[in-house]
Amino acid sequence: MLTRRRFLAGSASLCGAIVADLAANSVAKTTPTILTAAPGDAPLVDHRKQTSVWAYNTQVPGPVLRAAQGSEVRVRLRNRLPIATTIHWHGVRIANAMDGVGDLTQPPVAPGSEFDYAFVVPDAGTFWYHPHFRSADAVARGLYGLLIVDEPDPPQVDRDVPLVLDDWRLNDDDELDLASMGNLHDAAHEGRLGNVLSVNGLPAPDINVSTGERLRLRLANTANSRVMTLAFGALRPQLIAFDGQPVSPRETTDGRLVLAPGQRVDAIVDIELEPGRTTELTVVTRGGETLATRFVAGAKPLREQQLDAPVHLPDNPVPHRLELDTALDVELLMQGGAMGRMRSASYRGEELGMRELVKQGQAWAFNGVVGMPDSPLFDAARGQTVRLNMVNDTRWPHAMHFHGHHGRVLKGGRREATDVWRDTVLVDAGERIDVAFIADNPGRWMLHCHMLEHQSSGMATWFAVS
Ligand code: C2O
Ligand code: CU
Repeated sequence: MLTRRRFLAGSASLCGAIVADLAANSVAKTTPTILTAAPGDAPLVDHRKQTSVWAYNTQVPGPVLRAAQGSEVRVRLRNRLPIATTIHWHGVRIANAMDGVGDLTQPPVAPGSEFDYAFVVPDAGTFWYHPHFRSADAVARGLYGLLIVDEPDPPQVDRDVPLVLDDWRLNDDDELDLASMGNLHDAAHEGRLGNVLSVNGLPAPDINVSTGERLRLRLANTANSRVMTLAFGALRPQLIAFDGQPVSPRETTDGRLVLAPGQRVDAIVDIELEPGRTTELTVVTRGGETLATRFVAGAKPLREQQLDAPVHLPDNPVPHRLELDTALDVELLMQGGAMGRMRSASYRGEELGMRELVKQGQAWAFNGVVGMPDSPLFDAARGQTVRLNMVNDTRWPHAMHFHGHHGRVLKGGRREATDVWRDTVLVDAGERIDVAFIADNPGRWMLHCHMLEHQSSGMATWFAVS
């Protein structure tokens, strides 16, 4: 549970408004931006209390990297962590060698070493970065940041507001609960859920706004495993992009928006609050609602007149012409977990019963195979349409993420719409969701659950495009 105590502790500290603005660093073309991953600390619960975390450039989240669409991003990763690491650029249709998957696309970067990333960003939108080696631990400790790619002609807004949502599992001393990391009970259920919510690394920060102001919210769920249902209070967001890919502007369903781990949504919000009024963005949980951030309208309105409705962002150059008649059909059966039907599965070439799997720290399988196999789930010819039929035969939702491509959701689910292109798709228990994409990006690409504990306990595979 995201507890009430934490929620009160968080909001009580807000005597002076904490402004949630994250400064953006433009990624220069000539010299690489340096991201140093190292132990650090962050005021996760209260501005007077520092919690030990891992951070990029001492910040949680790491710096917002900002680049122009079509430009080259250059980042030098410096590893000052006690473990090896990498950086994965989640959602970027990237050259395979730069995808940052330890042991699949690059050797992990050893402590004390460096690695240079250089890649072109073909799509405008909201993306994020995080380690892709022992990622369940590394992301839980605070390693993640936003990568924003700007449209050549961005929609007119008064302010761009990144809102990076995370939940942390802290102990009674407000330190990270390290003892429970890698806990297989969590892994076999929903994954590691936190008890403290942060927005841009802060507990329930205020955002100062003005009446009439138009914001572009860039919402990202960087939690290890928590699916977040957001409620927007008095705000009426118009959703304009999912996982970086534009959609026709639309309202939320019942004022709520579901963000699974790894997913992003861009939303336009016109502040209609009277001067001096506030409203809250909350995360809806079984126990009630937890404050994420409070929008506080200042005394002076910014403008009186209504702005025009937000426009459809220009499409990104994602190949759209799906050839469904000749598509390569791939079945992906998700199996295992607590209360599931899986009795045995193949792990490292051996068929093991559930009890043996658990001893090996494993709990889940795709198509009867646990963890990264030696051979790919499928091998697509470059340019071929792939239709991925994902069937969730478990009692838990899974946020399925595929690398290097964005897919069109052909058959949606209870919480996933159909007419969108995504890189991460939420498949609820018992559901089947079909996604199609054109395999135009050569290389070895991961396909895994973004509940990071599910990934590390079996829900990981890969495909090849050649
Ligand atoms: Cu955001 Cu394979 O990860
Ligand atoms: Cu999962």
